[in-house]
Amino acid sequence: MKSFEIALSEIRAQQSPRVPRMGKFLLGIFAALTTICMILSGCGHASLDPRPDADIAPQHLFMFSALRTLGPATGLAALRIDLGRRLYYDAHLSENASVSCNSCHQLTKYGVDPGKPVSFGHNQRPGGRNSPTVYNAGLQFVQFWDGRAATLAEQASGPMMNPVEMGMSGPAAVLAYIRSRPDYIRQFRVAYPGASDPITLDHVTNAIAVFEAGLQTPARWDKYLQGDTSALTDAEKQGLRVFLRTGCAACHAGTAMGGNSYEQLGASRDWPDHSDVGRSGITHQAGDVMYFKVPILRNVENTGPWFHNGKVQTLDEAVRLMAKHEAGQNLSDAEIRSIVVFLHALTGEIPRRYIQPPPDEEPPIKTAKSSSAPGQMTHSTMISTSKEGQ
Ligand code: HEC
Ligand code: HEC
Repeated sequence: MKSFEIALSEIRAQQSPRVPRMGKFLLGIFAALTTICMILSGCGHASLDPRPDADIAPQHLFMFSALRTLGPATGLAALRIDLGRRLYYDAHLSENASVSCNSCHQLTKYGVDPGKPVSFGHNQRPGGRNSPTVYNAGLQFVQFWDGRAATLAEQASGPMMNPVEMGMSGPAAVLAYIRSRPDYIRQFRVAYPGASDPITLDHVTNAIAVFEAGLQTPARWDKYLQGDTSALTDAEKQGLRVFLRTGCAACHAGTAMGGNSYEQLGASRDWPDHSDVGRSGITHQAGDVMYFKVPILRNVENTGPWFHNGKVQTLDEAVRLMAKHEAGQNLSDAEIRSIVVFLHALTGEIPRRYIQPPPDEEPPIKTAKSSSAPGQMTHSTMISTSKEGQ
């Protein structure tokens, strides 16, 4: 039986090859092709080709690929998913038992904190960035707006110890809580058999990551890419044309429609707000200033407000800004609307059964919260403390 972890790495491999900074280059190619098309005239119109929708036939959309959903898990993978799901919903993984992963990435709300520009963690402390969706996040080449975690498992340890997210004092506090619960002890033992100590931070983050790998939302877009041309409405197809013509796919492509590269915010025209410099905050390289991981566009109509700081309140405005600052084009209101109509086709189905929270939880037998040794710097505390305020 193929494990979810293997499946996860395969999903990554299906992605278009890693192109950390291809956006500008591809945009140039798009612009050149558009010009040639305009010279030849008629490009983009079906008039050159009598077949309907020939210009956007699925076989020509090579820069995109359909989501391959993972089948039902069995064996150890299924046990780890159950454990990961429980951890995901467990507010006791935060200081004061006040927030869980689900507080900021609500699974019934497309994996975000809907309507909130930035999320509030324990003690109602606001963070500095908008919560990205956890749905399909495993398809991305890195995690976080600035890519500071390589994998879902590495990502998962961040929030628990992040002072403005879940605020636990360190891995020891998380593990002490888990060890205080007989149901967790049992679940870890069966999900990680053979380990001399099944309850470790690695296993906690692995279980969460395996659960997250199953958070997939197949959409009508996938049916279209698989050849069902009736899966999109005429208006959505028109929007797809505008999306392609504008060059959005230079950065938003692959299976997730993003998540394949870092790109400069302000690639064509300077972005007015430099208060968050993105990736250079991690690498301290001048060449990384204002570079962010390109976010995924699946379900984007439900993940607002938009951008890393959640400052943009409507999807129309987000598309207008993208066209202007990333693709260097001033689109008409009708063109913007048309792209937004196309984006609607990327909204997928929430896997309602998969995300069903575990029934009644056993209460802890004791409250055990200890802190990690002072001065002890683990990988996970490094992730969190280096980004305090995020
Ligand atoms: C207090 C709100 C909050 C809590 C609680 C929280 N997150 Fe997040 N999460 C965020 C924010 C904000 C970001 C983006 C931070 C950044 O990029 O700097 C994020 C980023 C992520 C990402 C990266 C997605 C992407 O597209 O880059 C994943 C995956 C994720 N969180 C999963 C989790 C898991 C699993 C938990 C529980 C262990 C959790 N989060 C708890 C707010 C939260
Ligand atoms: C040069 C690369 C590039 C191009 C071209 C581009 N984008 Fe983006 N897009 C990005 C980056 C980078 C971000 C993240 C911005 C940030 O940090 O807030 C983004 C963010 C977005 C968001 C917000 C997503 C969210 O979850 O907040 C939307 C919507 C979007 N793009 C749509 C489009 C559309 C539509 C087009 C074409 C008009 C387009 N983009 C063209 C790189 C690009």
